[in-house]
Amino acid sequence: MIVLSIETSCDDTAISIIKAKGSKKLDYANFEVLSDLTASQIEAHRPYGGVFPAIAKREHQSALVPLLIKSLKKASLLKESKLVDNKKISKIKKNLEKNEELFLQLKEFLTKYQIKDINKIAVTIGPGLEPCLYTGINLAKSLSYYYKIPLAGINHLEGHILSSFLSPNEKLELPAIALIVSGGNTQLIYFEKIGKYKIIGETRDDAAGECFDKTARILGLNYPGGPEISKKAKECKSNIYNIALPRPMMNDKNYDFSFSGLKTAVLYHSKENKITDDYIKEMSFEIESSIVDVLVDKTLRAVNEYKAKSLLLGGGVSANQKLIKEFKKKTKVKLLLPNKKYTGDNALMIGLVSIYSPNIKKIIKPISNLRINE
Ligand code: KG4
Repeated sequence: MIVLSIETSCDDTAISIIKAKGSKKLDYANFEVLSDLTASQIEAHRPYGGVFPAIAKREHQSALVPLLIKSLKKASLLKESKLVDNKKISKIKKNLEKNEELFLQLKEFLTKYQIKDINKIAVTIGPGLEPCLYTGINLAKSLSYYYKIPLAGINHLEGHILSSFLSPNEKLELPAIALIVSGGNTQLIYFEKIGKYKIIGETRDDAAGECFDKTARILGLNYPGGPEISKKAKECKSNIYNIALPRPMMNDKNYDFSFSGLKTAVLYHSKENKITDDYIKEMSFEIESSIVDVLVDKTLRAVNEYKAKSLLLGGGVSANQKLIKEFKKKTKVKLLLPNKKYTGDNALMIGLVSIYSPNIKKIIKPISNLRINE
């Protein structure tokens, strides 16, 4: 079984090709990565301090087909086309009216190449930015129609959960709690088996990554804010400003989060102070500490209460070194961390869900607020 997977939910265009070796058990030994490529859009969004959906859609449109060609070449699954089906190309043109650039590139691809041995196309259908999801789905549907390959619609967040199975040093024991923290999501998820999830807590407003990005912007730091704040926090040597930010909802009994108040607190504090380099370092230290304290405290309470045997992390924020250090120090259960390469958005995780989870949607359409297990 060879799966081509496509991920375009936010600001990464990603395509991966994996070969599953038959076993239904998710383990490194049971699949082979034939190709795994990502085109990041960070530079295009940097001037805006966050992801701009219209720009993200445009970037996906221009990146997808070149990435597809590169991926198939790397996996040696591309050959010259001998027969061109112009009827099918005309139908695809109609379906891609709103993705003209994608269509023009795809037309050239279909005329020139034939793809070999792909048994399934997996594509992210949500959650994510609708125009971005559409673009990936449109490519997946066109390829599926032209080459008669079955489609599988995948939940992006389940992908992040399965990314931590790629942890090289720990094996999962169930039940488990997953903390998914990215630019668009912050969720605590409980599960007893792959494919059956229960959201036990989530953010009521901003996601943790969004909070990093927005506070970084207030401080005049670059996008994405997480790594920038982290870098400045590490350089913090002084305590001139004596900053004490709140730890929102940390002591509430539920497992929900709220990060928008933190952003407001940073905004007000920064208006009352001169933004010097020392100020940025001290504020960064406090922002990172506040977010990490809340995430670690609530997650470990959930692990305890639900008697979980493993804790999984996923999403862009799970690359944060302070977060990892704190979890390593305080977690008594197995801690599964994705490889740094797979903390952020990637297509490999989408392919893995399509092979190892029963949660596959047959109706392929973008659902920007798709819930896990809906
Ligand atoms: O999962 P992801 O790549 O994209 C989606 O949001 O779907 O996550 C991106 C988020 C951004 O908000 C970024 O600031 C944050 O992850 N991030 C980090 C770190 N690296 C990326 N936040 C804190 N520390 C990091 N080292």
